Amino acid sequence: MLTGTVVDCSELTTREINQQLRTLAAEGLEQVTLTNPAGRHNLAVGMDTRMRIQIAGPVGYYCGGLSEQIHLEIDGNCGWSVGENLMAGQILIRGSASANAAATARGGTICILGNAGPRAGISLDSEEVTNLLEKQQNSYPGVQTKVTPTTEAKEKQGMIITIFNNKGGVGKTTLTINLAAALNSLGKRVLLIDIDPQANLTTGLGVDPLKDVEYEKRKDISDLLIDPRLPLEQVILKRRWGNVQLDIVPSHIRLSDMEATLIMTPDIDRVLKKKLKKYTTEYDYIFIDPPPSFGKVNTIALMASSGVLVPTQLAPYPIRALEYVVNRAIAIDQSRDGEPLPILGVAVSMYNRTAHKLARNMVDEIVNVLAKRDESKNVELFPEKTWIPSLSMISVASGKGYPVCFAEYDNELDQRDKEAAQDALNCYINLAKHLIQKTGV
Ligand SMILES: Nc1ncnc2c1ncn2[C@@H]1O[C@H](COP(=O)(O)OP(=O)(O)OP(=O)(O)O)[C@@H](O)[C@H]1O
Ligand SMILES: [Mg+2]
Repeated sequence: MLTGTVVDCSELTTREINQQLRTLAAEGLEQVTLTNPAGRHNLAVGMDTRMRIQIAGPVGYYCGGLSEQIHLEIDGNCGWSVGENLMAGQILIRGSASANAAATARGGTICILGNAGPRAGISLDSEEVTNLLEKQQNSYPGVQTKVTPTTEAKEKQGMIITIFNNKGGVGKTTLTINLAAALNSLGKRVLLIDIDPQANLTTGLGVDPLKDVEYEKRKDISDLLIDPRLPLEQVILKRRWGNVQLDIVPSHIRLSDMEATLIMTPDIDRVLKKKLKKYTTEYDYIFIDPPPSFGKVNTIALMASSGVLVPTQLAPYPIRALEYVVNRAIAIDQSRDGEPLPILGVAVSMYNRTAHKLARNMVDEIVNVLAKRDESKNVELFPEKTWIPSLSMISVASGKGYPVCFAEYDNELDQRDKEAAQDALNCYINLAKHLIQKTGV
């Protein structure tokens, strides 16, 4: 007999339901039944647990999405991308599923008793699933049964990404914080490295470089760079806001006096790369937030990275700067023998929703800038749904030292602020999903 419980979803937000699921899984419960799901999206998203989750009714899109291991039973139809990214475990859908059920999965079993939309389980390698999907093809011609054989799931490698733009104040740090929080809420493990002496990322996450680092005799990024024996874990601070957890390497103003020391330190350009090497299996994403310059710490950040994300505003000056940013990333890429440094894309960091026409012109400008060089002509400007609006609530959240997703718990905010925070959060989630899709992590 499994130890189990029932959670009635009717009075709970999706976030609260997911939080309860995580708590129950952490407590070692073996089974949970969610009643009254009312066609909700994103239930049990990013869960990696052997606990059986039974959903008593139809659901919307993305339920059990981004979960590498999940045991999910859905007693009805479901929307797109249910159980996407499955690596182990089972998904049983008693109704029909629209597109992408368990697509991009590399293991596990998916069983759909009704019809299945296109790309269901497209890269699964299980015989059982293949057979099932072949049967499905008869009932629904859109189903593909193409199977990419994969014997074993490879150990997953995370990505190290520098959020790069030498133009000051384009929203790099704010985007880094909130993108990281959105990725974590989708189940990704994220480390943030503040390599900017302004320490805005550090303070934006509620860590005071003076009180929480210096007075507490903790290590910071400067120690990490100049002490060859200091391991990363001794510099990390762990912070939690509700169900979001981020690990942080803090910065401190003293980094601004270090340029000469850094230049004198042997093999300094590779020091961060070496220190991060063994952590790419512990984190899905490691983001590095450098200062707005082309100085030494920027080179260190880029040399340590496996990709670059370029945030920009849709305004003339930042777009003029974009050409230099792209050229710099390409120059580093070409200097790293056999270790490419792809530009993952251009993300819009502060979008003025009322300036629609200007935005269209600026999009054309960006496309022109990217098209100037062969190396960048295929770099993507991320789609509009991922553009982060310019909203004062985003700035307020950084000032209060938390990611915008935590605003809903802040009793000092009124309803309008909370709605603005939710609006921003949706955009960060879209950005996070796009990045996951792009990087395959
Ligand atoms: N989406 C947004 N909406 C409103 N304000 C924002 C948004 N993003 C950033 N800001 C504000 O714009 C200012 C600059 O943002 P941020 O510090 O993130 O930029 P940056 O590129 O990291 O700056 P620097 O180049 O100095 O490191 C900050 O006051 C921040 O609160
Ligand atoms: Mg910054």
